[in-house]
Amino acid sequence: MAVSSAGRPDRAAVLCGLGGWLPRHRVDNDELAARLDTDDAWIRTRTGIRSRHVAAPHEATSDLAVAAGRRALANSGTHSTDAVVVATTTPDRTCPATAPLVAARLGLAGVAAFDVGAVCTGFIYALAAGAGLITSGVADRVLVIGADVYSRIVDADDRQNAVVFGDGAGALVLRTGHAGEPGALGSFDLGSDGTHEDMITVAAGGSRLPAEASRTSRAERHFAMRGKEVFRHASSRMTQSARTVLDCSGLTADDVDRFVPHQANLRILRTVATDLGLPADRCATHVERAGNTCAASIPLALTDDHANQALRPGDRVLLTAFGGGLTWGSCLLTWPELPPAAEPARHEEESAP
Ligand code: COA
Repeated sequence: MAVSSAGRPDRAAVLCGLGGWLPRHRVDNDELAARLDTDDAWIRTRTGIRSRHVAAPHEATSDLAVAAGRRALANSGTHSTDAVVVATTTPDRTCPATAPLVAARLGLAGVAAFDVGAVCTGFIYALAAGAGLITSGVADRVLVIGADVYSRIVDADDRQNAVVFGDGAGALVLRTGHAGEPGALGSFDLGSDGTHEDMITVAAGGSRLPAEASRTSRAERHFAMRGKEVFRHASSRMTQSARTVLDCSGLTADDVDRFVPHQANLRILRTVATDLGLPADRCATHVERAGNTCAASIPLALTDDHANQALRPGDRVLLTAFGGGLTWGSCLLTWPELPPAAEPARHEEESAP
């Protein structure tokens, strides 16, 4: 594929479709409390989460990504794209990337397709990559998907993490447009600090420590997180990144109509919103019903907000994320006119992916 940007200095990536998918099986706090040493009150007080969705044994990340991608393409009104970018920490396999399979299953034969790994910041990084493909003239339309199946890497017996994470996928379609039109992606802020790489990690399974059962412990083969430190870093990094992107655009928190942060934990979201000076009712809180869905959380929260009319054309929207790496990032956009979208947990109108 080759697209030229010659003569289009104001070329911008514009949001033109979105969709989300949550697996059918919903697990509430009482179901977890029945098999773990925890209870609904502890989970709700510490995380704000009431339920999460868990993929069926036969469902992998690509299955969820295809379902969300299909919905986003339908919402955008056309099936064509030049590239598919999938943000995920839980690819179907270590090799190859998941995006080419997702593209093939969506009938997008021959398009550019690659994965982005930035843990819970993955969607913002993927969005920046997708926008870059458009503004550089490499692509005219890009499907950006965030998809994760954390139930495959979190130890089901680990009460700290099993209550926090959920599975899901969300997707946005970007088209070529011009800066200043509704839906145009504005400034980005992206950052990382690899000196804290062990704060959120799956120790085994890569080139540093292959995941042979005889040479690794169960803990090393599963997701581990130093919760209290992550809480502190997440709150300050998200606040800082959000401020940076607002400053870049000459805006303040008063100009933000809807704040859609990575859905890490309700307490983190409330802390960041308060630190930014944003009222709680401007902040998306999809985490209550889906848990932390990692790379999927921002597009899922956007889809849910759009389906429930919490986002209206013309709203200025601030996206901010934090994740393992450490990584963080933010983006601003003005909400465009989009067709209605199905709520991510609604499945009755279509068959399983
Ligand atoms: N149910 C009941 N008790 C639990 C529990 C659970 N699910 N998980 C941990 N506990 C216990 C701990 O064992 C500890 O007990 P102790 O005092 O007897 O040692 C106690 O609760 C407090 O544990 P602590 O880890 O200090 O809890 P916390 O208030 O920090 O909450 C998290 C734990 C994970 C909810 C919290 O640290 C957090 O939200 N961190 C950020 C996570 C996140 O959002 N990550 C994604 C970022 S991208």
